Amino acid sequence: MHILSFEQVCQRGQARGKRVFIRADLNVPLDDQGRITEDTRVRASVPAVRMALDAGAAVMLTSHLGRPTEGAFKPSDSLAPVAQRLGDLLGRPVRLVADWVDGGFELHPGEVVLLENCRLNKGEKKNDPELSRKMAALCDIYVNDAFGTAHRAEATTYGIAQYAPVACAGPLLAAEIDAIHRALAQPARPLVAIVAGSKVSTKLSILQSLSDKVDGLIVGGGIANTFMLAAGLPIGKSLAEPDLVGDALRVIEKMKARGAEVPIPEDVVVAREFSASAEAVVKPASEVAADELILDIGPRTAARLGARLKAAGTIVWNGPVGVFEFEAFSHGTETLARAIADSQGFSIAGGGDTLAAIAKYGLAERIGYISTGGGAFLEVLEGKTLPAFEILDKRSREAAGAAA
Ligand code: 3PG
Repeated sequence: MHILSFEQVCQRGQARGKRVFIRADLNVPLDDQGRITEDTRVRASVPAVRMALDAGAAVMLTSHLGRPTEGAFKPSDSLAPVAQRLGDLLGRPVRLVADWVDGGFELHPGEVVLLENCRLNKGEKKNDPELSRKMAALCDIYVNDAFGTAHRAEATTYGIAQYAPVACAGPLLAAEIDAIHRALAQPARPLVAIVAGSKVSTKLSILQSLSDKVDGLIVGGGIANTFMLAAGLPIGKSLAEPDLVGDALRVIEKMKARGAEVPIPEDVVVAREFSASAEAVVKPASEVAADELILDIGPRTAARLGARLKAAGTIVWNGPVGVFEFEAFSHGTETLARAIADSQGFSIAGGGDTLAAIAKYGLAERIGYISTGGGAFLEVLEGKTLPAFEILDKRSREAAGAAA
């Protein structure tokens, strides 16, 4: 992929005095009072805005917030709290503009406006060409910096990129693309992935896709239980999907045929009930009783997997391997998280629970790259080309062809 970056555009002086339209992902959680409870995405949008301001551009920025009904504004759909937070971070006022699709709002170089929730515009979700053309007409340069929404082909993530005079990737999107490329396209070996979560069914295509690429595929949570069933181990009343044992076996066999491995836990931490106060018992994986639930990997398994992660050239991490929210069942996830942090290899992590685990153990600075994408990160792991990448790549090739 050869995607033009906004940094390159700025370095060539092409943004001076120009109208820059940045699509960010500012879809942040809000409490009942409309206050932002977690602002990572707002902070992550700041470098693109600063880059545009430093380059002498007039900056308009937009994002979706939630999944509102198009054309039916409700106060809770408003990006007003985000405008406030962004203004604080930038140290300058950020004016919120409603009904912006047809233009008519004032904007000068050196200013930043936030265009109200783009999913309120009719045709946004369906990537309507007329809406896309109107939005493209607002700007000289379109910058996609919304990795979290890169798996959606919507008017602000796809259509506008088709019609804007220049279409490029913002610094956040460019960093995500680089990290993904480094982890999956040209990984230092061995490449080890951790895929954990409650159900194989939601991550089956990821497991299948990764089984062609990785040297080790560590499974965790309910997914590991299904793989344990496939390996003929007892899992008691643990969460699992017996219907998918055949799929799990095929993943194991495919990996084996390539000389790679899906390590199956040798010991586990079990309880008789799913609760923070349940008594935790460590036992060999072959001895799980009918009335027990597996809630974590055991210490021997964690040590073995940790050693493997420390020796990895590249690590891709999605999902905690146990119920890390409960202290007694958190040690497996903590051991693996610390091993990833200690590894000399390049690591990339993504997904809400994974980020919560990294934050819990204070390891954010020691992970190679932390993705801002939820669904987008999962689709990358599935081996899909995200629509936002595809259109920027196409536009970049066309631009390079025209310049040659
Ligand atoms: C997310 O929170 O994962 C992104 O902002 C995408 O949101 P969506 O699933 O509503 O498209």
